[in-house]
Amino acid sequence: MKQDFPIFKTYPDLIYLDSSATSQKPQMVINAVYNFYSKNNSNIHRGIYDLSQSATDMFETIRIKVSKFINAKDAKEIIFTSGATEAINIVANGWGKKNLVKNDFIILSEMDHHSNIVPWIRLKKEIGVELFFLPIGEDFKLDYKKINSRFLGKDLKKIKLVSLTHASNVLGTINPLEEIIQFFKNINPEIKILIDAAQTVPHIPVDIQKLDCDFLVFSSHKMLGPSGVGVLYARKELLENMEPFIVGSHMIKNVTKEDAVWADIPDKFEAGTRNLEGVIGLGAAIGYLQKVGFEKIQTLEKELIVYALDMFEKQKDITLFGSKKSENRLGVFSFAVGKVHSHDVSEILNRSHIAVRAGHHCAQPLMEVLKVSGIVRASIYLYNTKEDIDRLFEGIHEVKKIFKG
Ligand code: ALA
Repeated sequence: MKQDFPIFKTYPDLIYLDSSATSQKPQMVINAVYNFYSKNNSNIHRGIYDLSQSATDMFETIRIKVSKFINAKDAKEIIFTSGATEAINIVANGWGKKNLVKNDFIILSEMDHHSNIVPWIRLKKEIGVELFFLPIGEDFKLDYKKINSRFLGKDLKKIKLVSLTHASNVLGTINPLEEIIQFFKNINPEIKILIDAAQTVPHIPVDIQKLDCDFLVFSSHKMLGPSGVGVLYARKELLENMEPFIVGSHMIKNVTKEDAVWADIPDKFEAGTRNLEGVIGLGAAIGYLQKVGFEKIQTLEKELIVYALDMFEKQKDITLFGSKKSENRLGVFSFAVGKVHSHDVSEILNRSHIAVRAGHHCAQPLMEVLKVSGIVRASIYLYNTKEDIDRLFEGIHEVKKIFKG
């Protein structure tokens, strides 16, 4: 698969192990963006001329493609955003401010990314909602049932939203969402569920109808597509009743000097000119993922996960922050090499052209739980090989040698 990704031709020595931060792009995606600019570029939903109408058709075709990709019932439930972070902000501002009041509870988890924490902290400051973080229990799994004991004396009916990551960008844990969603819907079927699927959509099939969630967000750049594009899925009736976060341009039906009436969904949430070439590139990324097939992607990644876990197991002086079992986890391996600072590890690996992420991974509350200030993270995707993992451990060996001497 590596041959489909031109970056590896540009840098034949590159060992790219930072796909949880952003993925590399296959030629097919690069071509789609290039072709859009060369053959189709014009603004959408505005021009009464062929070029604009064909660009509009292309854009709207991708909306249908995305809806089918996640098995949404209606393409109007797909909103193109700048990424998963913006998508959560749209929900916090458009749904949260309208539907939540002081002392309502929002359930998050200790393994959430800042993008699924900070918008809710702002809501806490602005309207006084309360946040409860589901703790991490045994084997780095979410102990969501703890809510029953921790909530004693509090009114479970006050839980209005459960907003969770599908998989941790640090631990690799894939949360059993169907089980968790059912658990909360049993407490109160009115509880709304938001899923941050930025880490999972690139790796495993995600089915909205099976999950039965109310909102789901993801980013194009982690799933082989261009950056600056993301998706907010929300149930139609929720979108229809939500306030748009950003207003202006063509997201209206009518504007006077005094008033404005919003357009219908999805336009209501797509003020300004979207990242057109990015959406086209996202369509090509979905096409590539479907061409390879999730079955193959999962088999390939599972093999690498088993291989890497086995290597970690053999290491002395390395702490792995994540399950040592290969089930229900992504190929995300966060670790510490003795007491060596994560930035030093990353810098030494970089000397051998090994790209990993180091630091807090936009998950500072999780770092606090793990009692570390930062860790190193190697994350894999479909273009990685066992040789890449071998090179990582050669690099780690080098780190140990340097810090011993
Ligand atoms: N969320 C991305 C990461 O985990 C940026 O690195």
